[in-house]
This record gives sequence, C-alpha cells and structure tokens, in this order.
Amino acid sequence: MLSTKFAIPDIIFGHGSITHLPQCARRVGAKRILFVSDNGLETAGWVDLVKEILKANSLDCVYFNNVDSNPRDCQVHEGARLYEKEKCDVIIALGGGSPMDVAKGIGVIAGNGGQIRDYEGANQIMRPLPPMILIPSTAGSSSDISQYCIITDMKRQVKMSIISRSLVSNISIIDPQILVTQSRNMILAAAVDAMAHAIESYVSKLASPFTEMQALKAIELIIKNIRPAADDNDIKAMEQLSIASTAAGMSFSNAGLGALHAIAHSLGGFYDVLHGRVHPVLLPPIMRYNMSACRKKMGEIGRQIAGSRLCPDNHLADVGIDILEELFTDLELDTKLRQLIPDKTHLETICKVATRDACQLTNPKDAHWQDLLAVCEEAW
Ligand SMILES: [Fe+2]
Repeated sequence: MLSTKFAIPDIIFGHGSITHLPQCARRVGAKRILFVSDNGLETAGWVDLVKEILKANSLDCVYFNNVDSNPRDCQVHEGARLYEKEKCDVIIALGGGSPMDVAKGIGVIAGNGGQIRDYEGANQIMRPLPPMILIPSTAGSSSDISQYCIITDMKRQVKMSIISRSLVSNISIIDPQILVTQSRNMILAAAVDAMAHAIESYVSKLASPFTEMQALKAIELIIKNIRPAADDNDIKAMEQLSIASTAAGMSFSNAGLGALHAIAHSLGGFYDVLHGRVHPVLLPPIMRYNMSACRKKMGEIGRQIAGSRLCPDNHLADVGIDILEELFTDLELDTKLRQLIPDKTHLETICKVATRDACQLTNPKDAHWQDLLAVCEEAW
C-alpha cells in the first residue's frame, strides 16, 4: 500500500455543542474575532445567538455577511480587508459551504497576502492561516472538515478549487439542532452533496482504507435518513445526516473527488447553479461512465444503497445506480440538466473548463472534455 495521510480538525459534535464556542475561541487565542455568516442564518436567529454567546463571554467580534451561495473572489477580498482593518486574530464562520469557504478564503489572504486566485489548485498555500472555528448549518458541504475552499473567479466565471492542508479548520463545532431551521430543499441539496462526496471519494484514485470506511458508512446513513430528515424534519434523522456528512467530509478531504464535482464547479461558475442541485442530475451518469474502472467498488456502493433488498452480487453495481435514480425522482428533485440551465450553447466550454478542475485529477477513469460532454448529453 502507498503511504497515505488523514487530516481532520478537532470535532465537537452533539446537541447544544454550540455552547462550547467561547471555550474553543479562547483555546485558539481569540482576542478579536471576525465572524462570518449570511442573511439566511440571521433570519433563522442563529447569528444573534452566536453573537450573544460571544458577548456573554466577553469575546469581541466583528461581523461580516457579504456572502453569495456561490461565493465570489471580491467577497473574500472585502472580508480580508475588514479582518486587517479591525485587527482580528481568529475567524469563526457559521453556515453552509458558502460562509465557511469565504471564511477560509479570508484566512488565506490574511496569512499569505495577494489575491485568492493566486492559490487555485492543490498545495499552493505556503504560509499558515489564522486560527479558524467553523460551525456548519447544513449536513452536506463538510467545509468545516475539509481541505477544500471553492471560490468563484468572477472575471473568468470559474469556480476555483483551492485545496491545501492549511484549509483544515482548527475546530469544527457540529450542532445538529442548527439544521432543523433549514428548508426541505436545502436539506435535500446538502444530503445529496454529501452522498456525492462519499461516492466520488470512495472510487477516487487516492482512496485509502481510512477514507473508504468513512465513505461507505456515509452512504448507508444518508440512504436511511434522507427521507425522514427532509419530509418530517425528524431530529434524529437530521443528527444521522450530520454524522454522515462529517464522515463523507473526512473521506473526500483526504481522498479527493472526481469528474462530477469538476463539472459541478464549472456549471456553478458559468450559471450560478446551486451546487447540490447538480448531483441528482449528473451522479448516476458519472457513475455509469466510471463503472469500467471500478466495478467492484461500485458493487460495494450498491450494497450500501440496496440495504436489505435482495440482489445478486454481480448486479449490485447497476442496481445501486437504479435505486439512486428512483430515490431522486421520488424526492421530486431535478434529474435532467435542461432543468438547471437554459440551453446547450456553453456545454462544450463548461466541459473543457471542468477538465482543468483539480477534482478531475482523482477521478478513477480518465475523462476528456468529449467524455464529459457525452455525460452531460446523457443527462440532458
Ligand atoms: Fe460538493
């Protein structure tokens, strides 16, 4: 076996774990905190709760909320200017992937200077970042766990994948009670994103025994809990989705992703499509495309998805994909690419850009832009 590494932050998990925030902030030396979140979490009341917890513990904070759902380079730079002007020393983010990725981008600039586009790709960050504490509000992106930061370069209309060990936060505080204020659509988009993280990282060229066990467990938990979490807002199911998302994050952060995320980033940069909406459309055709390179592993994925359904071993790989497609349709998710973008005009460009995304490097089967275009055509 080749040498492998496995990096994760300290994880504080459980109902009410957000109350540990002051203790965590002190542990990383906070004197003046930059707190990053967004309008949605303000409306839900969580931003005020965090501010009150910090204030009650005499921790000084400056608030930044200029964050879009596909966060932009200019927003990272604006946050970094605020961090410097206010002489902050620690970054806390509360949110889905967008506020957490903006927080990471601010940390990159605060520690290394320059423009965020200077750090696109893998291992381009040379100096340390300020301490970061991340609090996820969705069970999906796992940005609180991962070595990834995804920011849109507005000039090029490209979502940049920035990947570095330095982007792993110091502490992740995962409090499942924060998830219950999410809408059904957001819960589903996040859960399907976590499913895509688990599946792509399980078949990744860099998968290791440490990532594979996390990925398979994540798939099993998502299949069991996605319906009660989304349809009934069941708190126990939501907690299980949190565990699944964290496990999927541990897996993809260390094993990498694949062609699905490469295309999702390219589509998101070009059309501002919500990340989680891309996966029900492209995950099944990408799995079929990759099948010849990893049939045995696809069988293991199928075993988790099929659960107790009886199925011959040699059919599990295909049955798993069929069940996923049925699930996405039953949940009334968009399953055709034509539901996400207006026409095919830019598909060729989108696929060419996707082949340059860092996620493409770990796809189990080589994929040229023509192959990705064929996958998109199949999903149209
Ligand atoms: Fe993702």
